[in-house]
Amino acid sequence: MTARVALVTGGTGGIGTAICRHLASLGHKVATNYRDEAKAKAWLEAQQKEGFDFTIVKGDVASADAAAAMVHEVEQRLGPVEILINNAGITRDTTFHKMSAQQWQDVINTNLGSCFNVTRPVIDGMRERKWGRIVQISSINGQKGQYGQANYAAAKAGMHGFTISLAQENAKFGITVNTVSPGYVGTDMVMAVPEDVRNKIVAQIPVGRLGDPDEIAFAVGFFTDERARWITGANLAINGGQYMGW
Ligand code: CAA
Repeated sequence: MTARVALVTGGTGGIGTAICRHLASLGHKVATNYRDEAKAKAWLEAQQKEGFDFTIVKGDVASADAAAAMVHEVEQRLGPVEILINNAGITRDTTFHKMSAQQWQDVINTNLGSCFNVTRPVIDGMRERKWGRIVQISSINGQKGQYGQANYAAAKAGMHGFTISLAQENAKFGITVNTVSPGYVGTDMVMAVPEDVRNKIVAQIPVGRLGDPDEIAFAVGFFTDERARWITGANLAINGGQYMGW
């Protein structure tokens, strides 16, 4: 297998950490960004104790300038980015009639704007080298909507619109672009949902439990594989059966 340079945004989070570790275990050199230096350093130390070495670079993916500088630094340190996982995301859950402009913009800029901000600086190099793998980490709630998540669902649905356009434009350059849409996975983000609400959600999952971050990371690794070269523009739902679109 060819070792590649992979950039995973939001790699210090629950799903992000599992993706970083899985790509590293496949032999890739993995970088991620951070906003909070103390948190990122503690995360890196914990990963190193378990035998994983990652490159961490400061950069807020909601800002085009900061994201471009972050990509530049990753490329200086590791080489051209060949695998990009647009994973960084936040929630600002509230019903729409209570939602502030700030809550709307924060989620749109971080979850969807980041796809432009981080992909734009890597796409020219992928096209020149005629190889690339781009995966958006969307959500079940971009597919089905969610009470209290008009901002998040809009951003997550937008991510797949981004995927299928980029997939068409870049297919002839050996670049595949796909979406993974996780359901409710046992991360801090999901554990922040009030327990009574969360229990009702878990009751709607046919497999009968929250997902494990590794179950998402496995699919991301699949899309980045050499042999996945004919898979582009797909949206893979991984949600324990909670939502079965087709
Ligand atoms: N469908 C219909 N009605 C609902 C509802 C639902 N899913 N959820 C809540 N309601 C109703 C309540 O029954 C209540 O009705 P009454 O006023 O008639 O009693 C009303 O809406 C208000 O509900 P709350 O008391 O819950 O209102 P709140 O303002 O305290 O909280 C909320 C609203 C923030 C949306 C809260 O319900 C919540 O956190 N919901 C979960 C949202 C969610 O799933 N977020 C996912 C986070 S994880 C993630 O995003 C990762 C991923 O990709 C999956």
